[in-house]
Amino acid sequence: EELTLRADELQLEGHDTFLHKEIHEQPTSLERMLSGRLDDRFATARLDGLGIDARELRGFRRVKAIGCGSSFYIGQLGASMIEDLARIPADAEAASEFRYRNPIVEPDTLYVAVSQSGETADTLFAVREIQRKGGCVVGLVNVVGSSIARECDGGIYLHAGPEVSVASTKVLTHMGVGFALLALLLGRVHDLSYADGARIVAGLRALPGQVQQMLDSEDEIAVVAKGLAQSPSSFFIGRVRGYAVAREGAQKLKEISYQHAEAYQASELKHGPLALISPQMPTVAIVPDDELVERNLGALHEIAARSGPVIAVTHPGVEFGDLAAERIVVPHGEVELDPIVLTIPLQLLAYHAAAALGRDIDRPRNLAKSVTVE
Ligand code: G6P
Repeated sequence: EELTLRADELQLEGHDTFLHKEIHEQPTSLERMLSGRLDDRFATARLDGLGIDARELRGFRRVKAIGCGSSFYIGQLGASMIEDLARIPADAEAASEFRYRNPIVEPDTLYVAVSQSGETADTLFAVREIQRKGGCVVGLVNVVGSSIARECDGGIYLHAGPEVSVASTKVLTHMGVGFALLALLLGRVHDLSYADGARIVAGLRALPGQVQQMLDSEDEIAVVAKGLAQSPSSFFIGRVRGYAVAREGAQKLKEISYQHAEAYQASELKHGPLALISPQMPTVAIVPDDELVERNLGALHEIAARSGPVIAVTHPGVEFGDLAAERIVVPHGEVELDPIVLTIPLQLLAYHAAAALGRDIDRPRNLAKSVTVE
């Protein structure tokens, strides 16, 4: 009911859906989120809301992100940024699993609860379980004053503004940036150099512009999406940093187009899913221009050998030969931050696939914006 009211109050501002509006708000909302949080003097992030000083931060030997749905996938993306920049072990787990498996909570682990609404029951109960066992948990939350934001020991507000569409887009991008800020801060209290810190600060400043560049390619992505919409099933593959991107891309397509999509590690393709590759099974491949590019192209060779159509989401200059019929080229910034921008074309792909199929994009069947009951 509350959602209906809010949706009616807010204006679509010329967009056909809130999802489309929210995708397009990102460059502006990201600028807002970053303002005041980048510290050029020390090449670090300013995150006063965490309420954790440098000495305490140094004491954490591990980071664990917990969240549900897309917020879990972005937690996985965040964990890889933390490992890249701070070189401390980090991983992500679905809060819905974590809370029920009698988790081992360690005092030198920093827990990060990731939630748009701040009201997801599974995530909230996971927060309470961590605290009951004496752990420290901070929130990466959008809704100010929500339960998770209030109950956490500190946090980073995402400042994305209201998100009406059931499927999350802009808030996920803000979560990615929130993790990047946390990774930068953790990195700088450990061994990330001033020069590398400054490189990441500059990379973060460039992000809103890169997102805008992606939005400017919307028409081309829409054409690719129309093709993808015709396939009842598809694979999304990626490796390490790109795997979380693939998972989120598959999730978005499933949620709003109702077409089946499955994310897989590119490296695991040969251990099973290759059996399904055929001209009828397209693969959306996340191929960043990073140290794994040759390995990723290797996976595409295996797909091409079975005549599987490939849509590559990639950076300028990656040579595909005839391995990918379709290419979506994403601006290349700092490798550690690139996964954030790589998610943007997948939002547009899902949106245009759903639009081509005439789906109820803002209110997909069977889903709720936040699941606050058990
Ligand atoms: C629901 C929504 C998902 C969302 C998840 C977590 O299942 O349909 O889109 O990712 O909850 O929501 P939260 O508000 O905790 O990020």
